Amino acid sequence: MNHPVKNQYERFPYPPIPWLALPRFTRLDLENAVSRRDRLEDYFSGSTEQVNALILGSGTFEPAGVATEYPEISSILAIDLSRENLSRLQKRMRLARLFRKVPKFEVRECDFENEDPSGGRKFQWIRASNVLHHLRNPEVIFERIHNWLSDDGVVRFSVYPRSSRLGMRWLSKHFRQQNVDPAQGKPQFMKAIHQALNQLSSDDPRLQAWEDCIEKGHISGIIDAFFHAHENTVTLYDWVRLFDQAGFHWLGEGTNRDDQTSRIVGSEPLTILDRARLLQAMDDWQDLGSNPVFWIRKKTPEEKSNAIRWPELASVNESENWKIEHNELRNRANFLAKQVPSLTVQKFFLSP
Ligand SMILES: C[S@@+](CC[C@H](N)C(=O)[O-])C[C@H]1O[C@@H](n2cnc3c(N)ncnc32)[C@H](O)[C@@H]1O
Repeated sequence: MNHPVKNQYERFPYPPIPWLALPRFTRLDLENAVSRRDRLEDYFSGSTEQVNALILGSGTFEPAGVATEYPEISSILAIDLSRENLSRLQKRMRLARLFRKVPKFEVRECDFENEDPSGGRKFQWIRASNVLHHLRNPEVIFERIHNWLSDDGVVRFSVYPRSSRLGMRWLSKHFRQQNVDPAQGKPQFMKAIHQALNQLSSDDPRLQAWEDCIEKGHISGIIDAFFHAHENTVTLYDWVRLFDQAGFHWLGEGTNRDDQTSRIVGSEPLTILDRARLLQAMDDWQDLGSNPVFWIRKKTPEEKSNAIRWPELASVNESENWKIEHNELRNRANFLAKQVPSLTVQKFFLSP
């Protein structure tokens, strides 16, 4: 099978954390590392001891973090395309088991977009962190996840904020135009990266995108951020539409507080459509500094019967000019904000 994403992760395992490194042990550290509201027990009604977790696109580290935070859960099944990622993960988990309690743990090398990783089981917790935007056909993924989730289960997924990564995409384009190529081998590749950066003037926003990138310390991180084999173009608005239409209810956001819609509207109730518009407006305003995290659960039959109509989101095309694309995104942000009938939103976006 020629799968460019698989090939990338076999060659550049991710995240590039040495397998000897274990997640920090105390729950407090983990809570601070993410968000105080990003915890299973906030969204899950039953006892966490009953939880069988399925981690899609696990990479080399995430299940170890989950095992550290939730040693009491029943089991973890980690799925990944990359054998090399899974091999590093397995070593890390074996090491962890020497020092701490670790739930029953299995890995499966599998393309969950095309194969069923569940083995006919149901899972109470499904995680898909930073992976759904690398699928070829994301339109149907939530229907598949729906089948693998138990009726009382929850899903946590995170995806790229597309508009807020505009600077990164433009820098990626610049690298490619300058023929920077990972196939050159590491020393030549890094030299070419720095030559391409040196061509940018000090006020060029692409330089800021490089400065802000937390992944630039390692070649696998640079590949993941700027040379990915496949990144699809789904907007945050459309991710919400897709999970709503597949029969999921939006429970909450686990992103850093600054990037949550509640930063603007507090606890003011919004319809799912208006919350999706607000989140997209925040993204189009290029205001999101982290990857949005969503918590969702299966809809009840009553919720299913109240299907909503999703207006098409006006598209913003990739332009040949950074400033034009940036201005178009601002216009769409203002347009979306006007659609949300909340005074707080109007004030935040539309006041002079
Ligand atoms: C950006 S990494 C994220 C890793 C981890 N979830 C994290 O956040 O640290 C994406 C991972 O998803 C895996 N992946 C991508 N597409 C996949 C697919 N169709 N099936 C299984 N794994 C996939 C890749 O091999 C890679 O390990």
